[in-house]
Amino acid sequence: MTAASATGRKGIVLAGGAGTRLHPVTRAVSKQLMPVYDKPMIYYPLSVLMSSGIRRIAVVTTPQDREQFRRLLGDGAELGLEIVWIVQPAPEGLAQAWILAEDFLEGAPSAMILGDNIFYGHGLPERLHAACGRTEGTVFACRVADPERYGVVEFDGRGRAVSVEEKPDRPKSGYAVTGLYFFDGRAPELAKSIAPSARGELEIVALIEKYLREESLRVEIMGPGFAWFDTGTHDSLLEAGEFVRTIEKRQGLKIGCPEEVAFRMGFISAGRLRDLARPMLKTGYGQHLARIAEEGL
Ligand code: TTP
Repeated sequence: MTAASATGRKGIVLAGGAGTRLHPVTRAVSKQLMPVYDKPMIYYPLSVLMSSGIRRIAVVTTPQDREQFRRLLGDGAELGLEIVWIVQPAPEGLAQAWILAEDFLEGAPSAMILGDNIFYGHGLPERLHAACGRTEGTVFACRVADPERYGVVEFDGRGRAVSVEEKPDRPKSGYAVTGLYFFDGRAPELAKSIAPSARGELEIVALIEKYLREESLRVEIMGPGFAWFDTGTHDSLLEAGEFVRTIEKRQGLKIGCPEEVAFRMGFISAGRLRDLARPMLKTGYGQHLARIAEEGL
């Protein structure tokens, strides 16, 4: 039994939002359906949850975008997953994800990932797996050049995280909280006790603060061997695409490929992977899946 199934942890991909920083590109299509090089953006966060060992996943979308996402991923059965669709009527904040997903979670611990975040690095699956199996919560922090754009972690003299501030004018460290949050089963209840911020959102930093105050949250640093992108602006979207292209071409592998992850995690058989590859054989993506199906694990 994997750690994930032992804890019954469920996943949430938050793929709603307004995407205003990508206008006009996102006026008619959701940001999370935009391509990041050779695949839709949502494949990357979905693959991260799957690599953690999570198979029951809720995808949160806007009302108008849900059908397109559904066309892409269906009920998840092809990937050995159970995907549930949840609508967020208005973009009222990241922490609202847990309130919307309360019935889906049924008290289980969760891993929530932002639909526009991309993670890559050596040893990532092991760290995800460890976070998944841990009773206390885990968030990851990464050093960034522009911390004032993010939720920033403050550490005490012993390197322990003591607070998180959203988009501070004077950041207390260079470490931003990334868009991947492992919380215990109380997250919906705690999210409900948060008051909306001045910008009218249920802020994720408020939820993180609650866990930090209880000392039941680990803030793990993702060091220089890890790459973390959010793809919310035209430049960052293109940079993420260039990064993925460079790594994939150079190393002959694929980043954020849910079919491959499903196979490697034992969610689907080689035969199923071959079937998934067949209609895509004109592309490097399909050829990659076919090769993995032939070579095995
Ligand atoms: P953001 O990039 O903060 O917001 P956005 O996607 O609406 O874009 P913009 O600021 O350009 O208008 O959101 C981060 C991720 O979280 C992104 O994948 C969208 C998602 N999100 C929701 O699903 N619901 C929400 O209420 C918010 C605020 C974000």
